[in-house]
Amino acid sequence: MTTLFDPIQIGDIALANRIVMAPLTRNRAIEGNKPGPLSVEYYRQRATAGLIVAEASPISPTAQGYLDTPGIWSTEQVAAWKAVTDAVHAEGGKIVLQLWHVGRVSHVSLLPAGEVPVSSTDKPANGATFTREGFTPVSKPRALRDDEIPALIEDYRKAARNAIAAGFDGVEIHAANTYLLEQFLRDSINDRSGPYGGSIENRARLLLEVVHAITGEIGAGRTGIRLSPQTLFTAPLDSDPQAVYGYVVEQLAPLGLAYLHVIEGDTGRTRTPDGTSVDYAALRRAFSGPWMINNCYNRDLAEKAVADGKADLVAFGRSFISNPDLVRRLRDGAPLNELRADKLYGGGAEGYTDYPTLAA
Ligand code: PHB
Repeated sequence: MTTLFDPIQIGDIALANRIVMAPLTRNRAIEGNKPGPLSVEYYRQRATAGLIVAEASPISPTAQGYLDTPGIWSTEQVAAWKAVTDAVHAEGGKIVLQLWHVGRVSHVSLLPAGEVPVSSTDKPANGATFTREGFTPVSKPRALRDDEIPALIEDYRKAARNAIAAGFDGVEIHAANTYLLEQFLRDSINDRSGPYGGSIENRARLLLEVVHAITGEIGAGRTGIRLSPQTLFTAPLDSDPQAVYGYVVEQLAPLGLAYLHVIEGDTGRTRTPDGTSVDYAALRRAFSGPWMINNCYNRDLAEKAVADGKADLVAFGRSFISNPDLVRRLRDGAPLNELRADKLYGGGAEGYTDYPTLAA
């Protein structure tokens, strides 16, 4: 019987166990949108994860939507991330970077002067983002022109190349949580005509072009992707998530990706949202590669999912924030530290690098 603690090969990356640290926005980047020394320590402390998916990182200055998130577009950022990947590798861990474009979930104060957020649409997202002034309603976006898409894809390709230069074992394409790639995918957001709007094939085109650009640059065996068919967050669900995400998974299946990471249900809230259902088992059957699941898993549920063959890997978010030695605690059945929710976003070491290990 397979357990969470068994090693696994995912594409080109060999993992010591199947426990993954989920990508987690912590808003502690330093000047220049770089991970600082505190972030090096934070990731080093969590290096016993089979895989760390480092926090969502904007691929360009216009891809940002929150204050103090670390980017992957500049040479300075590559050097700063190298300190993180070196620290994780020195502890025997593996780490990939989540490549992020927020699309319309942004505010003009976070973007280069004169720029507004871009999306599939010019309709604003539901919600607020975090700026210097605190939580602020998102800005009205402008719809990307079709002739701007090649440069956008180029930003993704360069970001993937930068991630490898920074020592990451690979990248995870952020196609979840109502950010840019989902703003094209969902018919509840995408109101365009032309090659990137209308049919499922057209709405999935940008996502698939990004995947092909990145796998062409760094190899499919170093590329994972994250999807969230039922996450509400800043927009309603697609009118037929099974069909849309089924199509995407079917298109991804033959590529030999390192893994597919699916958030089951509504991110951070529930795996079984009221009134909507997605057959995740059917999605998995359409994809032969490593299958990573996430969303409100505890030890028993995760153990069972891996034992039953429902998934190959399980990603933990909040429990990895408050337990740097989560792998050991799960193995030993040890109690977990409480999460300090008021220290999630921004600030310093408190609620970031000061959670105790069992040994301490
Ligand atoms: C957030 O900053 O709240 C956030 C970032 C990335 C996600 C989800 C939430 O995928």
